[in-house]
Amino acid sequence: MEEKIKALLAEIAAFSVESEADLETYRRLYTNRKAQINTLFADFRQLPPEDKKRLGQPLNQLKQAANDRLEAFQAQLRQQNMAADRPHDLTLPGDPHMPGARHPLSIVLARIVGIFERLGYDIAEGPEIEDDWHNFTALNFPDNHPARDMQDTFFIHRNPDHLLRTHTSSVQIRAMEEGKPPFRILAPGRVYRNEAISARAHCFFHQVEGLVIDKDISFADMKQHLQFFATELFGANTQIKLRPSYFPFTEISAEMDVTCRICEGEGCNVCKYSGWLEIMGCGMVDPNVLRNCGIDPDEYSGFAFGMGVERIAQILFRVPDLRLYSQNDLRFLQQFEQF
Ligand code: PHE
Repeated sequence: MEEKIKALLAEIAAFSVESEADLETYRRLYTNRKAQINTLFADFRQLPPEDKKRLGQPLNQLKQAANDRLEAFQAQLRQQNMAADRPHDLTLPGDPHMPGARHPLSIVLARIVGIFERLGYDIAEGPEIEDDWHNFTALNFPDNHPARDMQDTFFIHRNPDHLLRTHTSSVQIRAMEEGKPPFRILAPGRVYRNEAISARAHCFFHQVEGLVIDKDISFADMKQHLQFFATELFGANTQIKLRPSYFPFTEISAEMDVTCRICEGEGCNVCKYSGWLEIMGCGMVDPNVLRNCGIDPDEYSGFAFGMGVERIAQILFRVPDLRLYSQNDLRFLQQFEQF
């Protein structure tokens, strides 16, 4: 047995592996249950005591050596595999990393907000699922106003008093109900209308609402704020034009046009050869609306305005089709960051 132990020690020392298959062979020969070493242990048990005394230690050493060698081979193969995974040419270009780009509507919205923040406006928010009071009634819409019609408004089936807000003017009401005048707020948000989707209309879009309420606020104050906004957004020689209009919640009401920046007022197909682009509705807050919110119209007055973000982005970026904003086409979305 002594001879056998020596021979096996030598074999183990001489063994080398290059692959998983070699490792398997090694296991089979030296460490598996059926390997020769284990047969030696079986023989050992039959030996007389004095032989056991002499051979016990060498036999255990053999077993230990076989196991140590197995671990060393396993570590060696792990190293080899890792080296094989590594790219051979570290100077090759890496995987391209695609940085995101801000959505054109986010870019435009941030600019609009930035301009009004400089005039001291705070941001206000309201829910997209509104009730009839905040979207219509408090805003002085008569019961039979066509905007309440199913044609324009998405009502919530389970509760016909609830609807998807059709404009951000609902946030005016919430702000006035919750706070005390003076107010100078800007309310950006998404709105919904039941329209057939086309290049010029969508069932959802974004608005920015402004509301200023204080003592002695006049139409002239509104004009100043809106002129400042127009020149900041569209450029120094942008003119504004206020045309009489109608909204239930403002009296007097106006529609604001700005000089067409595409043709500089010369006339082009975007401004339909008028030289002007319509960008928002505005007006003095109707006394009924103030009263509905618990504000005394004899003490306070103010103005409100509302504009479409898609429309402004269309003018600034010349976007020809409203649907592009929500189609998630990267070729479209990646064009705007540099503007
Ligand atoms: N809410 C109006 C709309 O959606 C816009 C508007 C807001 C008009 C505030 C006047 C004052 O068309």
